[in-house]
Amino acid sequence: MERRRGNRASGIANGLTGFAFSLAGAWLGGHLVYQEKIGVNHAPQQLPEKFVAIMPLDELPQGKLYRARAGDVDLVLLRRGERIYALAEKCAHLGGPLAEGKIEGLSVRCPWHSSRFSLENGRVLDGPASYDQPCLAVRVRNGMIEVRNARINSNASRTG
Ligand code: FES
Repeated sequence: MERRRGNRASGIANGLTGFAFSLAGAWLGGHLVYQEKIGVNHAPQQLPEKFVAIMPLDELPQGKLYRARAGDVDLVLLRRGERIYALAEKCAHLGGPLAEGKIEGLSVRCPWHSSRFSLENGRVLDGPASYDQPCLAVRVRNGMIEVRNARINSNASRTG
């Protein structure tokens, strides 16, 4: 526009300003995603494909969120009567500790930004998380709690 009016220097300055804003936007977007991990799924993606024993059933308290470990993956467990629920412990939103969260019915609320996930299947029930929480199938064998990726078998099993 400025160039059409004969203001060549002003036109070049406007063009360079626009280019600088574009560069700044690209840098900011890259920084937010790659440095700050905004919009990235923070939950672990590598869950055991086969059942692995994680702890004795006797040691899991009733009605409390409990942190456990399956190989390299931290889990949060909830025992309710005969049923045991297991999700990845690191929140999909920004990695908050779900074991320190709050139980709400059959869901857990993250202590950092209040995302809420279904304990039955890991679905996001309230944001800001936009990714489901990885869910594990649970069974009990010889008094030991065993877990594996629930995607292999969509329903968590009962104890016994
Ligand atoms: S880290 Fe869990 S809601 Fe943000």
